[in-house]
Amino acid sequence: MKHTKVKDLLNSTKTLHEVNAKGWVRTFRNNQFIALNDGSTIHNIQCVVDFENTPEETLKRITTGAAVSVTGDLVESKGAGQKFEIQVKKLEILGDSDAEKFPMQPKKHSLEFLRENAHLRVRTNAFGAIMRVRSVLSFAVHQYFQERGFVYVNTPVITGADAEGAGEMFQVTSLPLDNLPKTEEGNIDYKKDFFGKHTNLTVSGQLEAETFAMALGQVYTFGPTFRAENSNTSRHLAEFWMIEPEVAFNDLDDNMDLAEDFIQYVIKYTMEKCADDLKFLEGRLLEEEKSKPQADRSEMPLLEKLNFVLENNFKRVSYTEAIDILRNSTPNKKKKFQYIIEEWGADLQSEHERFLVEKHFKCPVILYDYPANIKAFYMRLNDNTEPGKETVRAMDILFPGIGEIVGGSQREERLDVLMEKMKTIGIDEEELWWYLDTRRFGSAVHSGFGLGFERLVLFVTGMTNIRDVIPFPRTPGSAEF
Ligand code: 4AD
Ligand code: MG
Repeated sequence: MKHTKVKDLLNSTKTLHEVNAKGWVRTFRNNQFIALNDGSTIHNIQCVVDFENTPEETLKRITTGAAVSVTGDLVESKGAGQKFEIQVKKLEILGDSDAEKFPMQPKKHSLEFLRENAHLRVRTNAFGAIMRVRSVLSFAVHQYFQERGFVYVNTPVITGADAEGAGEMFQVTSLPLDNLPKTEEGNIDYKKDFFGKHTNLTVSGQLEAETFAMALGQVYTFGPTFRAENSNTSRHLAEFWMIEPEVAFNDLDDNMDLAEDFIQYVIKYTMEKCADDLKFLEGRLLEEEKSKPQADRSEMPLLEKLNFVLENNFKRVSYTEAIDILRNSTPNKKKKFQYIIEEWGADLQSEHERFLVEKHFKCPVILYDYPANIKAFYMRLNDNTEPGKETVRAMDILFPGIGEIVGGSQREERLDVLMEKMKTIGIDEEELWWYLDTRRFGSAVHSGFGLGFERLVLFVTGMTNIRDVIPFPRTPGSAEF
């Protein structure tokens, strides 16, 4: 007999004769009521066991975590909280779970403890919900771009280009680390390495995506990226997923429009498809925040916050305006910021970004036109900027509770300006010969951005640590599983 998903049983419009469900026991009460979950929904189905006619031996094996198969009738439930339940006629234990040893007890566990058990935490309500939301969000990403004719491009994970400068890189090598081949000058001889050159894990697929945009028009990547930054924060992972659209003939305003529309679309899509999970996560957040001081709590419940993002335009503010706001802000004057903003040109720290979003504008903010020397080499130099105050057509999107969620720009399409910039900051043009070819042959205005997928999942689920929205987090000192 084929089993039916718990979700479909709970959504049934009528009682059913003889159904089969398979899943894992969440709890077993009064020797009679199994709360069964199979991962198809946040909700458990209640299975009522006929304990008088079930051997004591079997009853003892119905423990939290055990895999079971139940067969019986789907009947209207007498108990509160559910419409249907299964009146069990036949119960089979598929896999035992030692109640003494199973780490996911039916009680509240700390997020730290759950992280150490990332292979089992997905059996909890919260992590089941987060991972379903994550899955739906990634589908929404593809749907958004595919519906609009973007081509999905898989950029390399192993790259020979390390010029992007987006972050510290992880080296990839097949050389024996305890016996490295050396050149005559005594340097490591990468000609002997697997690829005949020095290679790394990619920090971004942007440069390769640009070459595709200059042929296919509108493209996007969605893949893993790696950064060896030693930033042990709640916003950074060493391995994270990034979405990078790149569009020919788009300028910075088009780029901002695309980013805003895209983010609103995927959030809306997920709110429609994951209503139950998000409702659960909203409750979880409220519960968690009870123990926090008022000032640290979210201003809005989760769903209201998500709706707020859908209903309000992102505030577009130039870097120069932002610096004025920050310079005159109370925390700057009272020296409450760790980094005091003294003058134009300062790099913005996350404390500044969060002040702008959470305290000043109280909505998502797009900051644009940053000083050229705090941004990447490929960003389009603004025309008519004062010498010494050059700005580039960069944009960062800042979200409440998260800080930077998107980084992007219009790209420098002029070969001479781009080469001059690379020379100034010491990037070898030989190394990026293929990238420069996009500017040599049929160059055109184009723009793109990168969205950190886990930061988006953080925002949508209301979680606060990025380690809790990726199945198996990789962070400094931690690569278990
Ligand atoms: O701002 P970033 O470094 O931009 C780029 O990599 C560009 N090449 C993107 C482009 O224009 N195509 O990174 C983009 C986004 C950030 O805004 C952030 O959301 C996320 O990637 N991000 C991280 N997420 C998790 N862990 C990390 N260590 C991250 N570093 C960046
Ligand atoms: Mg950035």
